[in-house]
Amino acid sequence: MATAQAEKREGDISDAFASLSGMQFKPLDPRFAEMKQKLVSGNEEALHASWNRLLASLREEIPLIREQKSKIIPEIDFKDLDAASPEFRNEHKKRGVAVIRNVLPEQEVLDLKRELREYIAANPHTKAFPPENPQVYELYWSPAQIKARSHPNLIKAQRFLMEFWHSKDPNALVSGSHPTIYADRLRMRLPGDARFALGPHVDGGSCERWEPNGYGKGNVYDAIWSGNWEAYDPWESSSRLPVTSDLYQGVGACSMFRMFQGWLAMSNTGPFEGTLLVNPLLSRATAYFLLRPFFSPKNPIEVPQDSTAPFPDSYPDPSNWHLDLSASNSWLQGATPGHGQELRHALHPHLNLPETMVHMPRVRPGDFVSWHCDTIHAVDSVHAGKTDSSVLYIPSCPLSVGNAEYLARQRAAFLAGTPSTDFGGGKGESEHVGRPGVEDVENVDKEEGLRAFGLKRWDEGAEGLSAGQREVLKRANGILGFD
Ligand SMILES: [Fe+2]
Repeated sequence: MATAQAEKREGDISDAFASLSGMQFKPLDPRFAEMKQKLVSGNEEALHASWNRLLASLREEIPLIREQKSKIIPEIDFKDLDAASPEFRNEHKKRGVAVIRNVLPEQEVLDLKRELREYIAANPHTKAFPPENPQVYELYWSPAQIKARSHPNLIKAQRFLMEFWHSKDPNALVSGSHPTIYADRLRMRLPGDARFALGPHVDGGSCERWEPNGYGKGNVYDAIWSGNWEAYDPWESSSRLPVTSDLYQGVGACSMFRMFQGWLAMSNTGPFEGTLLVNPLLSRATAYFLLRPFFSPKNPIEVPQDSTAPFPDSYPDPSNWHLDLSASNSWLQGATPGHGQELRHALHPHLNLPETMVHMPRVRPGDFVSWHCDTIHAVDSVHAGKTDSSVLYIPSCPLSVGNAEYLARQRAAFLAGTPSTDFGGGKGESEHVGRPGVEDVENVDKEEGLRAFGLKRWDEGAEGLSAGQREVLKRANGILGFD
């Protein structure tokens, strides 16, 4: 079995982001200035040239988004997954986001939502954020979540998405063809709510993306540090395997390798109705927020951190920005140790976030929405709709050695009814009435469903596996105690 991990403090979703707990962004510890110098040492000129090319590329791409808004997000129907069009494939690769329609039948999902409400009603002590008017429940093991996560259609959708990733090392111990579950929360947002107003952010750690013992362990962003941002490939998986995305015991930081975050819609919800916004610039946006801390404006402008007002043209102009590796520049804009990476128009002026954060198109119960793990995303600041805006967060996670180790710990949490180790301690749902067990997974899918939960042996003898896949299935079986 996997080694035990230190238990995190108990928390809710407001602990995960600095701005939700009312903090302001500020320069970090001086060691971060030194770290930045080392990261790009010897490549300073190339870095500056790369930054200028990136700003030019952003100036070209942003008008496309401004024009197309939500229509820029590629869509596909579940029934077409086996014959996805080249247009869908190309756009998904470029954008990193997708809507898969009709993954579960609408009525089935409405039944799940009803069951979920019954579970909450039967367990009135369920924790939630904010406590006085719950929008995000501290629920991980409700009947709806268990049934959705193990549903064969959902697992098929995850496999389809994860097969967009590839590995430069054919023997890498990772397989997107073998989805594993990550027990995340759910949202049931009510009209009028303005508390769960999560601005633009990226999951999967913050400072860790720059740190040598974080993402540096896999050299994930080396092309960006060396001054060749165009060579950075967001879909390469082997570089992500050694990554530590949580160096500071952040509550809610995901320690699994999650190729995509995603949700299953449980309501009919359109733009401004408490839904998700995404930034479809994927590799350009990643390169930008990673390079931003290395550059400073020659003529700075004082604006409040939450300002969304346009800047005068002279401010973002490339001629106004210089490479700033001074010891006093310890900023990693939007990053705070122990909290998720956030983005702000005032801190990230060239992304033009007020225009490039686009709403998800209208979704119906049973649609599945997915975004790449480096995608900048946000939640409507106010829910101006008339009905609930409800989703089950269901990321897509491949099988890897690290994920199998997490799966083993998570399986123990499932059996005990406690939140899995990423989400803080506490008794969770251990005393909840009507909490599902192994047989409920079995009832939905005896094969892939049980395997995704770590409850059944992987078939390492199956035909058509690559050497790397066969080996990772074998190791996972050992970790999960199926030797
Ligand atoms: Fe997020």
